[in-house]
Amino acid sequence: MAEIISVESETFQQQHGIIGESLEMKEIIHVIQQVAQTDITVLVTGESGVGKEVVAQAIHATSRRSKKPMVTVNCGAIPEGIIESELFGHEKGSFTGASETRKGYFEIADGGTIFLDEIGELPLGVQVKFLRVLENGEFNRVGSSAARSVDVRVIAATNKDLEHEVRTKNFRPDLFFRLRSVNIRIPPLRDRHEDVPLFVEKFAKEFSEKNGISFLGFTPDAMEVLQDYYWPGNVRELRNVMESMLVIENGKKLSGDDVRKYLKGYQAPEGERNLPVYVAQQNEFSERELIYRALVDLKSDVLHLKEMIVNAVRSTEEIRTQTSNLQSAVGGFPHSFNNDNGEDISLKEMERRWIIGMVQKYGNNRRAAAHALQISERTLYRKLKEYGEV
Ligand SMILES: Nc1ncnc2c1ncn2[C@@H]1O[C@H](COP(=O)(O)OP(=O)(O)OP(=O)(O)O)[C@@H](O)[C@H]1O
Ligand SMILES: [Mg+2]
Repeated sequence: MAEIISVESETFQQQHGIIGESLEMKEIIHVIQQVAQTDITVLVTGESGVGKEVVAQAIHATSRRSKKPMVTVNCGAIPEGIIESELFGHEKGSFTGASETRKGYFEIADGGTIFLDEIGELPLGVQVKFLRVLENGEFNRVGSSAARSVDVRVIAATNKDLEHEVRTKNFRPDLFFRLRSVNIRIPPLRDRHEDVPLFVEKFAKEFSEKNGISFLGFTPDAMEVLQDYYWPGNVRELRNVMESMLVIENGKKLSGDDVRKYLKGYQAPEGERNLPVYVAQQNEFSERELIYRALVDLKSDVLHLKEMIVNAVRSTEEIRTQTSNLQSAVGGFPHSFNNDNGEDISLKEMERRWIIGMVQKYGNNRRAAAHALQISERTLYRKLKEYGEV
């Protein structure tokens, strides 16, 4: 049985671009194959960058709906006031600005799949309407009393702990129970390091072909460094690290020291680190081995400290550059609210320039910019819309 699954999953991996050799990933691929044939609602959970969207795409691509579209909706990026009409559509004149009747994403996805990303961001008022669609396939366009129904398969994803959201009354328990009946939980990359070499190979091939670089591979200790790293940003972070390394270290066989330069000096939270533990009933560790492991951990702590110091020095330099970049983004810091051209700048205008400057700085990655500005993605979206930037 296990053999059959592994042969099937190999072909599946080639077909759907989803890779993984760990038991966890093989199990996930098996579940995808089972649920894809049905219309059952699936909840995909896991930290940012673990591959939730990749899983959603694989479910859709394997299902009988694959010839129809998969509509992806990022619930966190749609302003709260319009999310209901975006999802379910609206009738002409149902609210100020509704000059035309419009279909919502559920109707657009008819016959296919709707992927509701960041479902934890769905406002409470809309959650009840979403539950109704899940329960009996029905919904109303905003401003209409006629119930409509569509043939849509729902996949939802979140990196939030929905149980916690339920406890803090931000998420309806009935919707939570309905959603979690099939829950694909993707473990963080640090908990499945067997998958790291596969990703490394995949991304090395992809980036060397894309950039015309000849990649000479890694020394064994380099691969160990990659496998032992904490990967707070998961597969996405590994992908980015591979791209930078390949491009910058062009044509070189990479050693452990080369690789370390590209990893952030990230410290795993206390308690999650591999501190040496003495397990009395397991005699396989002799005292000498324990001392050896303690020394290895100590060495890795020293390396982390070294990286942290290097990073701290780098960040100080970065802050200096950012300050001067931001100064140009806001047209110079106000001196009596005048810039160099003598133009008066209002607080609102300063905010506008600052926000746009930050979005540019993060290469139009709104999530990263919102994070840096310490505002929600929804607030950022609303402000950009206000500025006519979206
Ligand atoms: N199992 C996998 N096989 C192939 N590529 C993967 C896999 N998992 C993740 N990736 C790659 O990692 C990156 C991040 O994946 P994805 O966008 O699906 O993550 P996510 O969990 O949806 O993240 P977020 O919560 O930030 O939206 C993508 O480039 C994706 O192609
Ligand atoms: Mg995603």
